[in-house]
Amino acid sequence: MPIQRVDQIGLKGERVFVRVDYNVPLNEKREITDDTRIVASLQTVHYICSAGGKVILASHLGRPKGKKDPKYSLAPVAERLSLLLNKKVLMATDCIGEEVKAQIESMKEGEILLLENLRFYPEEEKNEASFSKALASLCDVYINDAFGAAHRAHASTEGMTHYVRKVGAGFLMMKEIESLEKALVHPKRPYLAILGGAKVSDKIGVIRNLINKVDTLLIGGGMAYTFLKANGIEVGKSLVEMDQIEFSRSLLNEARSKIKLILPSDHVAAEKMDLEAQRKIVKNNDIPADWICLDIGPETIQTFCKEISSALTLFWNGPMGVFEMEPFSHGTFAIARAVAESPAFTIVGGGDSVAAVNQAGVAEKINHISTGGGASLEFIEGKTLPGIEALRK
Ligand code: 3PG
Repeated sequence: MPIQRVDQIGLKGERVFVRVDYNVPLNEKREITDDTRIVASLQTVHYICSAGGKVILASHLGRPKGKKDPKYSLAPVAERLSLLLNKKVLMATDCIGEEVKAQIESMKEGEILLLENLRFYPEEEKNEASFSKALASLCDVYINDAFGAAHRAHASTEGMTHYVRKVGAGFLMMKEIESLEKALVHPKRPYLAILGGAKVSDKIGVIRNLINKVDTLLIGGGMAYTFLKANGIEVGKSLVEMDQIEFSRSLLNEARSKIKLILPSDHVAAEKMDLEAQRKIVKNNDIPADWICLDIGPETIQTFCKEISSALTLFWNGPMGVFEMEPFSHGTFAIARAVAESPAFTIVGGGDSVAAVNQAGVAEKINHISTGGGASLEFIEGKTLPGIEALRK
C-alpha cells in the first residue's frame, strides 16, 4: 500500500499527533549542540499549522530506561522549536494522562504542544497495547516524521498506528524514503559506498548487503584494522575486533569475486591517542607494534578521492578516523570534501559523518543528509523498518 503524505489527509480542526525524532545532543548545561533534527521537522509542523490542525509533537530523548528523569526532559527542545518557528510551543508535563488530555482539549487550530519524553514509560519501548491506546486517545490523525526512529517497533512508532483511523507520513519521512530508495532500488552506476566508524560488528548486516549491490566499497576508520588484520597485516595497537576476524576474512574473499573493495594502504599512527603524542605516516607493512593508527594517510586519501570522483551514486556512513582530534581529522574532512564535489547522487547518514560534513562546511552540497543513523543503515541493508511499514495501511 502506498503511504499517505500529510498533505493528502484532511487536518482542519483535527488533533494531529506527530511522532518526530527530537533525540538531539545536549551538553552538560542541557543546551542543544546540534538542532539538525528539529530544523528537519519544521516543514511538517508548519504545514499542519497552516492546514488548521492542532499539532501534538511527541518524541523520545536519550535512553532514560522507562523512568521519569528531568535530565531527559524535552523542555529545551520546546524552547528551541519556539525560537525556530517564532511561535509559542507549549510544553506538556507528561505524554499521556488526564492533564495532557485537558491541555489538548483547550488547544486552538494551529497551536503546538510538545509532549514529554515518551521513554519515561517502559511501555513505549515494549510497544505495549495499553500505552499505544493511551497515546492514540490523544489524537484524530497520526503522522510519523521520525525517520531516525523508524527502525524501532515502539508504541509511538508502530503500536499506536493500529488505533488511529487516519495515518500518514510527514515530509521528512517521505524525503528520507525517496532518497534512500534511489540508492537502494535503481542506483546509477558506478555505485560506491564508504563505511567507517569504530566497529565491524555494528555494520555486519550492511556490509553483507552492500557487497551484493555496490560496485566499489571503501572501508576506513577503526573498522578497517580488523579487515587489515584478517588480511595478514600487523596493525600494532590499532582497534581490532578479534571475534570478527573470521567474518572479515570470509567477507573479503566473497567481496573479491564481486566488487572492488579497497582498504587503507597508509595511516596516521601515533604513540597513543593523545593530541600531544608523537605521530607519523606509515604504510601497511610498517605499522610499529606499539603504535595506534588513528586516521587514513595521504596515499589512501588520494585513492579514495579518485574513486569518489567517478561515482554516480554514493552512500557514506562513518568517519575515517578520530576526527574529533585535529591531528587525526584530515582523512575524514578530505573525504567529506570529495563527497561534496562528487558528481554522484550523494547520501550521508549517521551522526558522526553528518557532523563531519557540517564541520567541513560542505553540508549544502550533499544531496541527502539522513537524520537517521541506525535507521539509514538498516534501510540500506534492505531491512523492513517497522515505523515505515506501519504507515502502509
Ligand atoms: C537515533 O538517535 O538514532 C534515534 O533517535 C534512535 O535512538 P535509539 O537508538 O535510542 O533508539
